[in-house]
Amino acid sequence: MTRHFLRDDDITPAEQAEILDLAAELKRDRFSAKPLAGPQTVAVIFDKTSTRTRVSFSVGIADLGGSPLIIQSGESQLGGKESLADTARVLERMVAAIVWRTYAQAGLEEMAEGTRVPVVNALSDDFHPCQILADLLTVREHKGRTAGLVMSYFGDGANNMAHSYLLGGATAGMHVRVAAPAGYAPAAAIVADARAIAERTGGSVTVLTDPAEAAAGADVMVTDTWVSMGKEDEKAERVAVFGDYTVDARLMGLAAPDAVFLHCLPAYRGYEVTADVLDGPQSVIWDEAENRLHAQKALLAWLLAKNEEAAA
Ligand code: CP
Ligand code: NVA
Repeated sequence: MTRHFLRDDDITPAEQAEILDLAAELKRDRFSAKPLAGPQTVAVIFDKTSTRTRVSFSVGIADLGGSPLIIQSGESQLGGKESLADTARVLERMVAAIVWRTYAQAGLEEMAEGTRVPVVNALSDDFHPCQILADLLTVREHKGRTAGLVMSYFGDGANNMAHSYLLGGATAGMHVRVAAPAGYAPAAAIVADARAIAERTGGSVTVLTDPAEAAAGADVMVTDTWVSMGKEDEKAERVAVFGDYTVDARLMGLAAPDAVFLHCLPAYRGYEVTADVLDGPQSVIWDEAENRLHAQKALLAWLLAKNEEAAA
């Protein structure tokens, strides 16, 4: 069975720790691992726009000795012109792994079912698991650990980042709080999955509507855009609904005095976060952005090794 990374709970707590350890090692010694030497090619497919994901995968694949092949799906036969299953079968003949940023999670699952090479979710409407690996690496660097820390997320509780914080944070043994207005709470099934993981790791999951309650004593404060890709038509109503969830100096003041602030970026100053917080001393967003590179290199190296072991 090929191992894929489609959602944060596709890896166990021990595997997540192993990948984060490897990420830290690759950050210390960037060009030490060459599992893609050959060079082997990794397809990186985009149905949505990207800066960080595109650059970090391109650079990371090259660091690992491989060759990235960026595919803008609109310029390919994807998107209804050819079935996913057929695309998957063609790609597996030529590439070592498939990385895909898309809309529906079901598409990623279909791609994974149809291919022998690992498929990595580079953001879907439901999850952004590569981002969470980078975020956890950043928390480790700034706080020395993840287990037992309170990580509080504010805003759109039903989006990919909120869902991935729930699953990935619970896997890391964190106490994850999500503060979102009515109608934008995380999907019940994902909350249930995250709770089941938290029971095993000593973490917890709390879904709230009151941002002040979520912020109280938090070690990690985090938010994301109110208008995710694909939701642009809802911008006016979203800006109205999420107005009380802006992470500002007052909200940061309720968190632990040494709390760090995270944001996956791109950020919209004055909406989900004020400029003084985003650009302030508690913000670790640039380390977080850089850590996409190290975390994804570790993930790719780990997946390739796992699948080689299984094939042996
Ligand atoms: N955080 C993130 O995934 O950024 P991009 O959309 O620029 O890839
Ligand atoms: N929730 C955002 C994340 C961007 C990296 C989006 O999906 O647009």
